[in-house]
Amino acid sequence: MNLLGKTVVLTGACGGIGACLAEELAKAGARLLLVGRDQRALERLRSILPGGPLPHMIYVANLCVEEDRAGLKLACSDAQVDILINNAGVGEFNLLEQSSSDAIASLLDLNLNVPIQLTRLLLPTLKSRPTAAIINIGSALGSIGYPAYSVYSASKFGLRGFSEALRRELTDSGVRVMHFAPRATRTPLNDSKVQAMNAALGTATDAPELVAQALLKRIRTNRWQASVFGWPERFYALLNAMNPAFTDGAIEKQLPEIKRFAADKSLPE
Ligand SMILES: NC(=O)c1ccc[n+]([C@@H]2O[C@H](COP(=O)([O-])OP(=O)(O)OC[C@H]3O[C@@H](n4cnc5c(N)ncnc54)[C@H](OP(=O)(O)O)[C@@H]3O)[C@@H](O)[C@H]2O)c1
Repeated sequence: MNLLGKTVVLTGACGGIGACLAEELAKAGARLLLVGRDQRALERLRSILPGGPLPHMIYVANLCVEEDRAGLKLACSDAQVDILINNAGVGEFNLLEQSSSDAIASLLDLNLNVPIQLTRLLLPTLKSRPTAAIINIGSALGSIGYPAYSVYSASKFGLRGFSEALRRELTDSGVRVMHFAPRATRTPLNDSKVQAMNAALGTATDAPELVAQALLKRIRTNRWQASVFGWPERFYALLNAMNPAFTDGAIEKQLPEIKRFAADKSLPE
């Protein structure tokens, strides 16, 4: 898909991956509607985009609030939106017993309910365009269930299932659906505990710029199928689908370290 002149709604625009996506999309000539909760951060991002701020718009919204989502739909009604990127998300590195009921509910809301609801709201607009796309930012942990990420994994497995079903539901329309799943990426989503654990376990991490460039390449070359970004995570995702017992064994070896970091109160979150 050629991005020149396309209108893109990008949620989580000011986050680590979101800001890099905004930069790449602006460079490719797209017109952006940047969505986030912090007006000043959105304005700052808009002001530094390649090509200048003029073509782009901002929309301040807490996406967990239904009225804010309805307001976003209204803001999009005249904008002829071609692409929706559901990127806003939160992480939670915690053993299930340590997780609060509120944290579980709000993570599932933002990571799973919000992209489904936003997609439903913007689908009529997207269907009115000759070609359009919905891009859901998942995670490698949406294919590989990982200890201390049970709730996050549940949300991203759910998002992957939603994306796959919707992609098939919309095959006979002009709307393409992509599920793009980065592995660990160096953004504020990962607190110092997670960074320390990744370093101790030798887990590969990517720069958000690289993740954004990889997604842009997939959009440009029309690779709409679900994909986990990064090797060997893509291989493990396939292996886990075919033979989860093998992955159980590999992860069991890491479990004492994972639990040690999850329980560590000395590192700031
Ligand atoms: N970092 C990783 O290791 C990694 C790996 C795989 C997948 N991912 C996925 O990539 C996506 C982006 O993550 P990131 O790493 O860029 O995280 P990030 O830097 O923490 O950014 C998350 C963004 O989500 C937005 N957000 C949070 N709660 C919101 C709410 N209630 N309403 C509206 N926006 C809200 C934040 O916007 P505000 O500006 O309003 O705070 C922020 O811009 C997420 O879906 C994440 O699950 C990340």
